Amino acid sequence: MVCLGNICRSPLAEGIMKKKIQEHQLNWKVDSAGTAAWHAGEKPDSRSIKVAQKNNIDILNQRGRQFQARDLDDFDLVLTMDATNYQNVRYLTTSSEQENKIHLIMNFVNPGLNQQVPDPYITDGFESVFEMLELACNKIIEKYKWDIPR
Ligand code: 4NP
Repeated sequence: MVCLGNICRSPLAEGIMKKKIQEHQLNWKVDSAGTAAWHAGEKPDSRSIKVAQKNNIDILNQRGRQFQARDLDDFDLVLTMDATNYQNVRYLTTSSEQENKIHLIMNFVNPGLNQQVPDPYITDGFESVFEMLELACNKIIEKYKWDIPR
């Protein structure tokens, strides 16, 4: 799960997905990262912590980290929040196999629409970010839950 700062959107995506993975008893690994290193080592934004808590998801133990080129090998899917994250991750690819792993996360909800999860850091909107990510995570679970060994 990739956004810019790894303190607002992608920590929520990680938390939501981890909860669903548990509920479905899948053995998937999920992590999140930011394309920027500004918030490396920091806790998620308090507004993300709050909206997660409201939905019984604990993201307090997450810490920010910067996306690394090796993540493109270590993970099967690289799910980005907006077009800038998408481009920044794509610059790091060295093969079409890596390129094919990268998606805008909302394309799992509305294929081909290239909808973006808006950056809530300045403008707020954490509730609607949460709702978008929850929809996307549901779709991803449904799409792959039988494909990947438990
Ligand atoms: P995120 O939000 O990419 O969803 O974590 C942001 C967090 C911090 C900044 C920008 C976006 N920032 O400019 O510090």
